[in-house]
Amino acid sequence: MTDILVTENITGDAMDALRSERDVQFDPELWNDTDRLTEAVRDVRALIVRNQTQVTAGLIAAAQKLEIIGRAGAGLDNIDTDVATEAGIVVSYAPHENSVSVAEFTVGLMLALARRIPAADADTRGGGWSRREFTGMELSGKTLGIVGFGQIGQLVAERARVFGMQIVTHDPFVDPTSVGLTPFNAQWVELEDLLRRSHIVTIHVPLTNDTAGLFNAERFSQMKSHAFLINTSRGEIIDEDALIQALTASRVAGVALDVRQCEPPKLGPLEKMKNVICTPHIAAFTHEAQQRVVAVVCHDVEAVLGGGEASNCFNFSRPKLCNRSSQDSGQYC
Ligand code: MLT
Repeated sequence: MTDILVTENITGDAMDALRSERDVQFDPELWNDTDRLTEAVRDVRALIVRNQTQVTAGLIAAAQKLEIIGRAGAGLDNIDTDVATEAGIVVSYAPHENSVSVAEFTVGLMLALARRIPAADADTRGGGWSRREFTGMELSGKTLGIVGFGQIGQLVAERARVFGMQIVTHDPFVDPTSVGLTPFNAQWVELEDLLRRSHIVTIHVPLTNDTAGLFNAERFSQMKSHAFLINTSRGEIIDEDALIQALTASRVAGVALDVRQCEPPKLGPLEKMKNVICTPHIAAFTHEAQQRVVAVVCHDVEAVLGGGEASNCFNFSRPKLCNRSSQDSGQYC
């Protein structure tokens, strides 16, 4: 019987080791087929996902033997953590392991937007040599607005300081007095103020009911005109229709979107705009980060299935098997 189900393309040394030692069903396309997925989880003790598998209440109910959900990444928005917790299932994730990669990618997008590198590349490949057209903006002396000042936001701030940028930040989830702003020379401001002052705004908040649609028509109208916007967080935080209108009206100078409302997105107006950079949710995709992320999750799955404790748990470190209706084991409760 399969112990561990992997429903997305999650690879790395730790996954190779897990697959050689345990009974693992590795099915990278399973996330995309709800019926097959629901059938496949029925008897497994561990489920390992990235961000595409929707671990809903229905899926959890079908997985009566599940002890641990391993999320190979930081965001938990695709997992119904309340239901998993209620069912006594450990939710393990990798909250910090890809932060450096995301921060570095964000800096890359800042430069790519400010200097219009992808558009210049495409133009030159098409036979152009339009040097004046690609006159850009220096980062030095500009204001960077960081929405979300967790680990990634702070790593971005650290790097932006080296470019001589001023940092303003706002985080809807963090008490400003609890964050040491001095090392970053950052100033805590209200979101509206951040939008009015920033030449570049970068989003680093998780997707929650409070942040879904946070960047809407009103927010775009508050932005400094001709500012740039970067989103490496979650697509749903930006209302894409409102963004298209803001870009069409030249309210926003350019946008870099690594994440989308619907992934993969249907080709539409955003993909046709020269001042929009689109990438396929790759901010966390470096060899280093993926090795770390997969190691953390595989370690926790191995530990829990062996009767031990998870180290990177979102809820608790051991499953509470007595919470599952069809199980009679109470050994962990
Ligand atoms: C994360 O949440 O870790 C990143 O967005 C990458 C991913 O979802 O795999």
